[in-house]
Amino acid sequence: MTEVSDKPINKGDVIELEIESLAFGAEGVGHLKTDKGSLAVFVEDTVPGDIVKIRIGTMKRKFARGYIVDFIKKSPLRITPRCKHFGSCGGCALQFIDYATQLKIKEQHVKDAITRLGGFEETIVKPIIGCKEPWYYRNKMEFSFSREFKDGVEGRLTLGLHVRRRHHDVTELSACFLMNDYIGGLVTGVRDFFRKKDEKGRLKEISLLNFTMREGKNSGEVMANLTGENGEPDFLDEFAAYLRDFFAQLNGGEQMRGLKETEQPIITPKLVSVYFTQIINFKGRPKKTMERLLWGREFISESLKTADGTELKFRISPRSFFQPNTRQAEVLYGLAIEAAAPKNTDTVFDLFCGAGTIGCFCARRAGKVYGIELNESAVKNARDNADDNGIKNIEFISGDVGKLLGTIGKKPDTVIVDPPRNGMDPKAVEMIVSYAPDKIVYVSCNPSTLARDLGMLKKTGYRLLSVQPVDMFPQTYHIECVALMEK
Ligand SMILES: C[S@@+](CC[C@H](N)C(=O)[O-])C[C@H]1O[C@@H](n2cnc3c(N)ncnc32)[C@H](O)[C@@H]1O
Repeated sequence: MTEVSDKPINKGDVIELEIESLAFGAEGVGHLKTDKGSLAVFVEDTVPGDIVKIRIGTMKRKFARGYIVDFIKKSPLRITPRCKHFGSCGGCALQFIDYATQLKIKEQHVKDAITRLGGFEETIVKPIIGCKEPWYYRNKMEFSFSREFKDGVEGRLTLGLHVRRRHHDVTELSACFLMNDYIGGLVTGVRDFFRKKDEKGRLKEISLLNFTMREGKNSGEVMANLTGENGEPDFLDEFAAYLRDFFAQLNGGEQMRGLKETEQPIITPKLVSVYFTQIINFKGRPKKTMERLLWGREFISESLKTADGTELKFRISPRSFFQPNTRQAEVLYGLAIEAAAPKNTDTVFDLFCGAGTIGCFCARRAGKVYGIELNESAVKNARDNADDNGIKNIEFISGDVGKLLGTIGKKPDTVIVDPPRNGMDPKAVEMIVSYAPDKIVYVSCNPSTLARDLGMLKKTGYRLLSVQPVDMFPQTYHIECVALMEK
């Protein structure tokens, strides 16, 4: 803890601070000993071990936020970031510390949430499982269009990732190590393509929103999806042809990255699907989303193989959720199935099931699986996925878990949940508990809401057996967990 004199600290004060830890969200945290006790101070762009001179920007009762004025000593944990965009680009937050340290910090975040917010013992949290390959792991990236601003005047069109903590601005990206080597060249090429059209006035009435790339790391299949608002450019066929040329030139050259340390063959990415998505968004009218296949197939295929040797094929369409890290999805799903350990007479609920991935793996071992998912196109994918894999003992229901859970007449032996970041609503928790399953397997992408929901379940008589952190997102502060509860 940094000692200060016993005079009160005020906004604007410049003080010295030692950074002790990294908070969830990747801000450094130090503590000041004040006349009233200890005050947590958050400082962006710092790592544990840094000693910094900061200016106090925000002053609250329980914490303060400061901005770096100068470094007094840089932490030995600091490394040189691999990417030239690190710092400005919002894609990565932790490239300035090595991967082993990132993992330690993430494991501690899970322990903190589970103990402080859930009221459980720290020992319930198992050692984190890291990625074999902490680069080139993403199978999906969304790049945003924006306009440059110079002297208050709107300028050229730009395309890239959002600037860190400034959601309206975009970094002019020309390299990225999260998905594949070709991404920097592709984003540059797509940006140039639309700039030329824009300069000729051909984008006048249309707003371009984003350009999304998805790739099957195991299949090599690639989908590109351009999204615009309130109109369709009249040169979309030319755009699809541009993308086809780009990928044709990669053939035999650029290869699928992120597979080096596995026994998987290295694959050349091949474009199989190009979409234009139009969002109709006029004031006073309901928002509508329409997809149009410009070229190729409606979906890309991907195969996943869990540690027990089960291999399944999945369809991914533009709007369906698919775990963004293929390699670790195989690990995560393996852990979820291992925790559920279904017998061939068991009924299993797969709630928030997306395209049915966990449910399909489960159905290989269970008696019957029911999946519930809000997104209709994901449910369509889920049904096709079950058919494609010859799985007959699974049923998918389209709608809200909180509303539809009660309509399944059968009592589950195990409930698997994988909700979005905000966790489960108390109604859904209540419904699950009313079925009194023997086991609840909770897959979560947010340690805070996980801890909160596990705490709620504990009050109803469920015992927490384990929490397994799995790193799905190296270089970022995000962390996934699989927790197991039993009656
Ligand atoms: C983290 S994803 C998990 C998907 C799937 N388990 C997987 O691993 O691919 C969460 C899913 O919950 C769905 N979802 C969000 N709110 C929901 C709700 N209230 N009822 C049902 N599904 C919901 C989302 O559409 C998304 O597909």
